[in-house]
Amino acid sequence: MQKRQLIIDILEYENANELKPEEKKLFDKAKEISANAYAPYSDFKVGAAVLLENGEIITGSNQENAAYPSGLCAERVALFWANSQYPDVAVKAIAVIAQKNNKFIEKPVAPCGACRQVILETETRFQKNIKIILASSGKISVFDNAHSLLPINFDKDALNF
Ligand code: THU
Repeated sequence: MQKRQLIIDILEYENANELKPEEKKLFDKAKEISANAYAPYSDFKVGAAVLLENGEIITGSNQENAAYPSGLCAERVALFWANSQYPDVAVKAIAVIAQKNNKFIEKPVAPCGACRQVILETETRFQKNIKIILASSGKISVFDNAHSLLPINFDKDALNF
């Protein structure tokens, strides 16, 4: 038996003003688009902004449904849209933030497992790290890549056995 430990780098910022200008812009776009969420069931309105390698920023918000599983998270709305429009353009970064009762939440939003899986797929597909900016009204956590958020994962290699 061997005990192994995982070490994950998280850059923790006190607030959005500490972000680099490019990151701050993505943060602002995520904030802005969260207002467009359709979240009548959870009132948890999420905004995601995706920066592409060509400089374009694609945004998305969560879209809920009376049949709950039929809805989609903001991250996947934005990423699927980006990858549909620009199938050959890598994704450089994604910023996510959520509001509840019209107030941005106070701790960095944590993407669900399915969204982590999709961000990882995009990272693998383009062989390019995706910076992940998990934002709030206060602290912001930044990860260098999707692998950091889903270190033990199911990927295409598993299908080759
Ligand atoms: N949600 C997102 O859009 N992204 C996240 O990172 C967490 C959860 C959505 C799904 C659902 O519409 C609502 O937030 C509550 O779970």
